[in-house]
Amino acid sequence: MKIFIATKNKDKIKEISRILIPHNIEVITEADIKKPLSDVEETGTTFAENAFLKAQNGCKETGLITIADDSGICIDAFDGAPGVYSARFLPGLSYPEKNEEIMKRLQNADTRKAHYTCAICVVAPNGETFTVQGELHGEIAHSQRGSNGFGYDPIFKVGDKTVAEMDPEDKDKISHRGKALQLFEQRLPAFLKEINNADK
Ligand code: IMP
Repeated sequence: MKIFIATKNKDKIKEISRILIPHNIEVITEADIKKPLSDVEETGTTFAENAFLKAQNGCKETGLITIADDSGICIDAFDGAPGVYSARFLPGLSYPEKNEEIMKRLQNADTRKAHYTCAICVVAPNGETFTVQGELHGEIAHSQRGSNGFGYDPIFKVGDKTVAEMDPEDKDKISHRGKALQLFEQRLPAFLKEINNADK
């Protein structure tokens, strides 16, 4: 079965493919299609809304069952920011610079608690859709550590390790995206059956 992943983010493609491929799913990405995907305006105020907008657009443009995710980091001391704006937070700064700035802003904070959230949405050409969500709770470290992962991983600590210090497979087991993908896998067979029945 072919599933199109509607994202330009190579790190997400890597993480999503790593989980889908063992389940006999042929992953199709933008590199495999003729026309580049048009950009979707992320106008939603929740991760689920934005994931739906991206999946709907990918499905419309490719005609394939399409999966898209929307994710981000929510920091308690910032009232949950940057949240859905994580990719657009502190524009112009590199991730190491953004991470330094976050730690600076947290210097006198009462709490360093934070969580990652990931919503994954699938949309089929007949309009059938479902969305799942996963979270990873942790806290913001006092220094950047590790070279795995991406984005905010060097400052996102779970227990003693930052996510950037974890092996990729260990990240998948506990991560917001890993958890959402596990739920996605569980619900996918029934979803596909429903689509087939609706087509008959
Ligand atoms: P999106 O592409 O709109 O979903 O933006 C997600 C943004 O959230 C990324 O660009 C990162 O800044 C952040 N993010 C989401 N998941 C992770 C993760 O697993 N590690 C580090 N940063 C993440």
